[in-house]
Amino acid sequence: MDDAQNIVGAAHDKIQHDSAVKHVTGKALYIDDMPSLPNTLQIVLVTSPLAHANIKSIDGSLALAEVGVVAVLTAKDIEGHNDIAPIFAGEPAIADKVAEYVGHPVAVVAAETYDQAFQAVKLVKVDYEELEPVLLIKDALAKEQFTYTPPTVTQGDPDKAMDAAAHRLQGEVACGGQDHFYLEANVALAVPGEDKDMMVYSSTQHPTEAQHGVSRVLGVPSNAVTVEVRRMGGAFGGKESQPTIIAALAALVASKTGQPAKLRLRRDADMIITGKRHDFEFDYDVGFDEEGRIEGIDIAMMMRSGNVADLSSGVLARSLCHGDNCYYLKNARFRGYPCKTNTVSNTAFRGFGGPQGMIVIETILEHIGHHLSKSLDEIRKINFYGTEDRNVTPYGQTITDNIIVELTDCLMGEINYEGRKKAIDKFNAENSTLKKGIAAMPVKFGISFNMPALNQAGALVHVYTDGSVHLNHGGTEMGQGLFTKVAQVVATAFQVDIDNIKISSTRTDKVPNTSATAASAGSDLNGMAAFDAANQIKARMVGVAARHFGASEDEIEFRQNRIYGGNESLSFAELAQKTWEARESLSATGFYQTPDLSWDPITCSGSPFYYFSYGVSISEVVIDTLTGESRTLRTDILQDCGKSLNPRVDYGQIEGAYVQGMGWLTSEELVWNDKGRLLTHGPSTYKIPGSRDVPPEFNIHILDDAPNRMPTIFRSKAIGEPPLMLAISVWLALRDAVKRSGDGTKLPKLNAPATPEAILKAVTEIRAVN
Ligand code: MTE
Ligand code: MOS
Repeated sequence: MDDAQNIVGAAHDKIQHDSAVKHVTGKALYIDDMPSLPNTLQIVLVTSPLAHANIKSIDGSLALAEVGVVAVLTAKDIEGHNDIAPIFAGEPAIADKVAEYVGHPVAVVAAETYDQAFQAVKLVKVDYEELEPVLLIKDALAKEQFTYTPPTVTQGDPDKAMDAAAHRLQGEVACGGQDHFYLEANVALAVPGEDKDMMVYSSTQHPTEAQHGVSRVLGVPSNAVTVEVRRMGGAFGGKESQPTIIAALAALVASKTGQPAKLRLRRDADMIITGKRHDFEFDYDVGFDEEGRIEGIDIAMMMRSGNVADLSSGVLARSLCHGDNCYYLKNARFRGYPCKTNTVSNTAFRGFGGPQGMIVIETILEHIGHHLSKSLDEIRKINFYGTEDRNVTPYGQTITDNIIVELTDCLMGEINYEGRKKAIDKFNAENSTLKKGIAAMPVKFGISFNMPALNQAGALVHVYTDGSVHLNHGGTEMGQGLFTKVAQVVATAFQVDIDNIKISSTRTDKVPNTSATAASAGSDLNGMAAFDAANQIKARMVGVAARHFGASEDEIEFRQNRIYGGNESLSFAELAQKTWEARESLSATGFYQTPDLSWDPITCSGSPFYYFSYGVSISEVVIDTLTGESRTLRTDILQDCGKSLNPRVDYGQIEGAYVQGMGWLTSEELVWNDKGRLLTHGPSTYKIPGSRDVPPEFNIHILDDAPNRMPTIFRSKAIGEPPLMLAISVWLALRDAVKRSGDGTKLPKLNAPATPEAILKAVTEIRAVN
């Protein structure tokens, strides 16, 4: 593996995203851009206006009488199983007897044009019997209403340790949810074939799950359903399970009418109907010694799961596995509560519960520091995981690759952190309206899906006789550059130019039984599978070349589009032709499974992560104490990417993830009214970061010379999610600024998101004399 590190063509740091130009020139094709097939129907969903209601009857006859309307379908029209649950069971694609949130699809209207369908929706009569909704985390908790059995991670004896500790504190904190706000909303196009075959173009991170959902709803076997996705216009976890509903409903219409059918959600429909990041409330209890070293800790992590479990068990497992962040907690209990509410089912979102877990532990360390009159950085330092000892996580995994101390010291030294802090003290002493804050955020993020079975991937590689290469694998492209990275891997294996590799759409009939492209593991898994496929073909080509040159196989060398043996050489295309003539296969499937993983979902213990990805950020902010407005003035990041497969792509991932995290923690606020209706369902009321929110001074460094200690593909590390959590430094810096607005004796009461209103309130509270 290591000698294959000559990543093509040496200038891998210059290779850009394969679709970069197409993205910015509008030439990249998304599902809604595909040329329309004749008779394609457009679908609009009828959704519940109530958060909780019995559906007594649905009458579509008036709608059906409208010009252009071809079908009005409800759960009763489903011939297969009305269940698209990704993990558990009993999660209908379309509400049958009960509507469980405002926006819950209860019927579909299909018409010749979008406008006809949109108007006809208003004519569908649904008779509801309103039921009492449970909307808030605390109400679901009081009723012990959960979407699945609450899980707990335990290590040691936290109660005893807290009782014996010199100091003890309790507190609470909360963080909001987040809409994915991908540029391309959820969309699927279903095209019926002969017999009961169904071709579905779906904007999904998980084509196999969409295939399963369609097959279940239509009542046909998996081999009758093919799902294809070339690219998504952003996904961020929002297209892991949610597109299955969209694909299944499009397929339902296509199957019932025999016509192609497209379901494309408008922005506000997408925001109302599909799940988001889980909001959390946390209660904590912690015991620590005179220096601030944690002796025992108990955290309740209460998540708003929404109406069904969906992926909540995976998300909460990751929160429980990241409540330690970078700190050794020898006596710990993390209790998870997946609260079932009459709100849209929350789902995967970049970080997958990890960011929420980290928020609470950082708040606790800050609280300890405040109590002992020490800085957060000092408290962190004495609680950091060790390398030889103090290195077992609460869920029982031993950390063998810890670099967090070096990473943090390195960045702090580099940017003169202590000096900057002093400058901020001076600024704050001289200014009463504007107050600055600064904070660091170290991040340790586990790489692999918690559930070991998901850590597998397949690939399909063909070499044609003209030397061109066709590449397919189970991973999907959502803008993160996975296709480029995997193409680089194959180009490297064959030592041909990357332009020689044709990147193709992900299809369930090419590579079956895939996992979602998620958990940041896309390139780790699919890169390895593609490498395996390419190497099988290469081995056959080596045999043919050896015979051709009359040389031994170990004398054959692939270099710069040519194959050398002795003093002779052939072009890659010539050898491909000769391999065909020799009747050797130029096609192979590759496979990879991540080794040595274990996870027991009942005891919440094991070694679920193949390795950890590390990073640290430092952010400096300023707040206006009269308006509550804030700005991030400067951010420095040092991120571990292992031996980066593609530094350009990785920089983009770090920058994008950080800004997305900043949005979550500062401006993106989801507001529901007391009837469970989402009030913030468009860009006018839901504020994602704009280009001017990006810190004016934004320095990103990828850690040099840091090959992954594990034999991942070319020793690279996953990058998709970890940097999102670096944005927690912004939130901590804002808390620091709020604290400095007062006399320093009070801890700020500031949850996430720290919107201007929230900051103003926190400042007012901290300045209040009592
Ligand atoms: N980057 C872009 N541009 N668009 C996205 O939708 N999704 C993120 C991350 N980076 C996303 C992205 C999420 S949630 C994950 S899990 C990873 O990409 C998935 O891809 P990977 O495994 O190839 O990193
Ligand atoms: Mo990413 S939340 O794992 O799709």
